[in-house]
Amino acid sequence: MTGSTNNSEKYTHGHHRSVVSAHSVRRASESAVFVLPRLKSPMRLLDFGCGPGTITVDLAEHLLPGGSVVGIDSSEIVIDQARSTAIARNLSNARFEVKSIYQTGYPEESFDAAYAHQVLQHLSEPVRALEEAKRILKPGGICAAREVDWGTAAIWPEDERLSLFLDVYRRVAERNGGDANAGRSLKQWFGDAGFADLLVTTSTWSFADEAGLKWWGEQWAERILHSDLARRAVEYGIASEGDLSEISRGWLDWIVGPGALFAFTQVEVVGVKR
Ligand SMILES: C[S@@+](CC[C@H](N)C(=O)[O-])C[C@H]1O[C@@H](n2cnc3c(N)ncnc32)[C@H](O)[C@@H]1O
Repeated sequence: MTGSTNNSEKYTHGHHRSVVSAHSVRRASESAVFVLPRLKSPMRLLDFGCGPGTITVDLAEHLLPGGSVVGIDSSEIVIDQARSTAIARNLSNARFEVKSIYQTGYPEESFDAAYAHQVLQHLSEPVRALEEAKRILKPGGICAAREVDWGTAAIWPEDERLSLFLDVYRRVAERNGGDANAGRSLKQWFGDAGFADLLVTTSTWSFADEAGLKWWGEQWAERILHSDLARRAVEYGIASEGDLSEISRGWLDWIVGPGALFAFTQVEVVGVKR
């Protein structure tokens, strides 16, 4: 990977199949709806921390006929997947590169827009990442980001195994240098990075119907056993393998629990480079 990140920073989820497949269902029509009206051809957009690129290729399509998108991520695994998705969608205006968010190497004032979805929460220096986004933007260019706030999670029915999950997740993310409650700090980070004219909106992810409960519950039942989140929880002494098995079972039981529901808040900010 080119460009260094803070050495102690670790991406909480890692790129286990269970993680990447969950991220691959994302679409710009949901994940970027708060900024889509401000993105127009022939803009050039940088998607930083693009993951498997399903949102990125939607943005590339949105910016046709004259616009283009560059997606960057520190993981070669997801960049390869993103390139394949762009080819499968026949989009020649999307390019993907393995790069660090902190040091992209792109010239100053070379993009019209920057976008990040569920990325800043994993960084130990989110303001430095936003400053790099600001550096590569032209004056008048916009930066948009959306981050979850796990501290707003509402889970029903109450289950101590899922309360333990929330605690394990928050502590592992923090130990990795991130912030599971990033949503509530997002506006502050944009201000600290020097963006102006901040527009803040919120939305909710909720799972309550049969398909939603199954999708959300089954992915966490697997991720808490097999992803980097599990590995680090044990390595840091935050949870035992027995605890993780209990949590996994808790997610599967939750799917079929009476009145089952999960909801949490997403915070969205768009700022302008003056
Ligand atoms: C939660 S995923 C989000 C992916 C995508 N934006 C989405 O919403 O589907 C976060 C991504 O940020 C990437 N990432 C984390 N730290 C990074 C860094 N310092 N530089 C570049 N990418 C980074 C990870 O590899 C991961 O693919």
